[in-house]
Amino acid sequence: MSKILVATEKPFAKSAVEGMGAILNEAGLSIDTLEKYTDKSELLEAVKDAEGLIIRSDKIDQQVIDAAQNLKIIVRAGAGYDNVDLKAASARDIVVMNTPGQNANAVAELGIGMMIYLNRSQFNGKAGTELRSKTLGIHGYGNIGKILAQIAHGLGMKVYAHDPFVEPKIIEDDGVINEKDVKDLYKKSQYVSVNLPANDKTKGMINADLLSLMPEGGTLVNTARKEIIDEESVLKVFKERSDFRYISDIAPDCKDEIEKNFEGRFYFTPKKMGAQTMEANTNAGLAAARQIVGYLSKGDKTFQVN
Ligand code: 3PG
Repeated sequence: MSKILVATEKPFAKSAVEGMGAILNEAGLSIDTLEKYTDKSELLEAVKDAEGLIIRSDKIDQQVIDAAQNLKIIVRAGAGYDNVDLKAASARDIVVMNTPGQNANAVAELGIGMMIYLNRSQFNGKAGTELRSKTLGIHGYGNIGKILAQIAHGLGMKVYAHDPFVEPKIIEDDGVINEKDVKDLYKKSQYVSVNLPANDKTKGMINADLLSLMPEGGTLVNTARKEIIDEESVLKVFKERSDFRYISDIAPDCKDEIEKNFEGRFYFTPKKMGAQTMEANTNAGLAAARQIVGYLSKGDKTFQVN
């Protein structure tokens, strides 16, 4: 029986793992789990005889690929696959997939939730502010951006988006104002939500040139990878503007400096938790299991990213 390893340093909900097991078993595949591991050696040992691998943000580098001599497919149960060495996988003809959209709602809800939490003074009883009639700029209009726009409209916000890879009509059909020039997005948006993949082009892309354009009360909301934000720029804008605020799902490397100097103007989750809901775990986990079955039984390569 071919073994499919679910290696998650940050485990899925139990019910999601059970559902994944049922899908894999029905297709004649066995499931093995490695959860909450603290040392890479545990992963290297567990992948040895795996034919398929399901992961979250777990780092799959050359060493892991080398240790997994039977591996045919890796599915990143989630959107971002910057944690997988695609070159190393391709060199061994290992198919790499993600499960786009499956955890998007969870990430969008967290973004809005963090905005409300900071606006309401982290629920400490002090007067705060509301989102109604404020402007939201969505930088990157993919699955998460689309849902964010829906929620923000429901809250009475005016929504703008910038995404050179999405047809303006798709954005406009959602009642969102398309901004061709990214600078206009930052100029018009009191809140900017960054929803971009991390790659060589996007790393460090959100810089002082953009952030300093934001109107009074400018708040950057990052539920993407921290590498997309140029941290030197964030510190510079924090110092120059007493109204600037920063919300991020996972703390930036410059967290200590921000915490020391800019009290009440930031919120960082202690651990990346955008996709940490039972629904997102189930959606992404089951999709990953189905994609493994589809590839191993029929060669279906839908959602291949390498
Ligand atoms: C993603 O890329 O899908 C999200 O960042 C979620 O990552 P996680 O599965 O590690 O929580």
